[in-house]
Amino acid sequence: MVVLLAQPEAGSDLKAVPMSERNGVLEILTMRRDPFGFADRKRLKFGDVSGMNAFGTTFVTCSGAAAASEILMNKDRAFANGPAWSYFIGPFFNRGIMLLDFDEHRDHRHILQQAFTPRVLQGYLDELQPMVAERMTRFPTGRVKMLAEFKKLTLDVALEVFLGLELEQAEADRLNKAFIETVRAGVAYVRKPIPGGRWWKGVRSRKILEEFFYDHIAAKRAEATPDLFSVLCHAEGEDGARFTDEDVVNHMIFVLMAAHDTTTITMTQMSYWMAKHPEWQEKARAQSFEFGETLEYADLAKLTVIDLIMRESLRLCPPVPAQPRMAVKDTQVQGFYIPKGTMVSIPQLINHRDPQYYSHPEVFDPERFSPERAEDKGHRMAWTPFGGGVHKCIGLYFAQMQIKTVMHHLLRSYEWSVPDRYTMPMDYSALPVPKDKLPVQMRRR
Ligand code: HEM
Repeated sequence: MVVLLAQPEAGSDLKAVPMSERNGVLEILTMRRDPFGFADRKRLKFGDVSGMNAFGTTFVTCSGAAAASEILMNKDRAFANGPAWSYFIGPFFNRGIMLLDFDEHRDHRHILQQAFTPRVLQGYLDELQPMVAERMTRFPTGRVKMLAEFKKLTLDVALEVFLGLELEQAEADRLNKAFIETVRAGVAYVRKPIPGGRWWKGVRSRKILEEFFYDHIAAKRAEATPDLFSVLCHAEGEDGARFTDEDVVNHMIFVLMAAHDTTTITMTQMSYWMAKHPEWQEKARAQSFEFGETLEYADLAKLTVIDLIMRESLRLCPPVPAQPRMAVKDTQVQGFYIPKGTMVSIPQLINHRDPQYYSHPEVFDPERFSPERAEDKGHRMAWTPFGGGVHKCIGLYFAQMQIKTVMHHLLRSYEWSVPDRYTMPMDYSALPVPKDKLPVQMRRR
């Protein structure tokens, strides 16, 4: 007999959510080891909507584009981000924009949006490109672990483009370390500040970051410069509202976090697929040589081959593999009754392989995004690496600009390969990363 989550009121047409009777912690461990096999088994046994209890919370996974649309479009304001994301990253990314909800979120997003207009993005490209070009002149060759290299690069870019500060190397290292520790703390198994543990280090690092930003805020308010930090200090909403010092600090810490692991993962995936499919690497390189070494902002949209590879890599491995939401009132998803207090999750890692929209979904096939095939357009939530609805990634154009710029410069100066039999071993325990950091053989051209 299937165990059910709470029954809807008598007379309701809604169905009760079927629940796994296995220990929830074991379920989560199994899911992290093999998310695709786990999802197949769940769907076979329960269908698209099913739940489990773990760590004192009820989690309901709602698979499929239609369910994603219901939750993300959130028409009756039944789902909130704050209580859901806070469960994972609250103490470290307190009051970041993604953790705000409803009217407060709208007001903050309105101001934050001004740091991502096309005009401001062009300014970031001017800052970013010389740095990327310089770094590419000394990219390592031989056996190179791509995840580690991209991580260093994106952290440095974030410090330069977002902070606009000339930092001593030791200070930059101290900040990078603090960022890494706050991110790691979010996925700690032991969620208490035990000295020396991940959680404790995360809390300590959050303090370091706060102090750093508060120290520099007066100077940033005094003079407008083209970096994110300054833009946030000066941006105004329609009614002239500005961020307080506390808001600026909270948003800076969150945006820096949101920006670097996600782009690192995407570039690592792209490098993997281009190594496995050298014909795509060559095609992308050939197109990059049709442009000058320095890209203009308008060139970014014309790098169509890199774009196809990027979209397909984001489909096969969305850096944010699932999006959680908390039901803040009794509601429903796909005809299932969801009581207030339930944590629901949209599994985009799984949704991106839905055979209803994608032919041979597990195969790397960038052409599926071509205008002729446009498989991602089968449903507006068939391809959601950047989420959807009011919380849709605010940095998606920045991310694509950075990824394309790095790939353009890398392709022009280097070529890389992996052995024929190599398959990237993935770790899905937090954000999806290769366990071996993707070692490739890198050669200068
Ligand atoms: C390939 C790179 C990226 C991916 C795949 C990605 C993915 C996402 C996703 C899925 C969300 C929505 C989460 C939710 O609704 O629960 C999100 C939100 C967000 N992202 Fe990104 N992101 C990327 C890069 C960036 C960059 C570069 C920045 C900043 C420069 C950024 C800033 C943000 C912010 C501020 C939010 C919260 C928006 C809000 O709640 O209103 N992201 N991102």
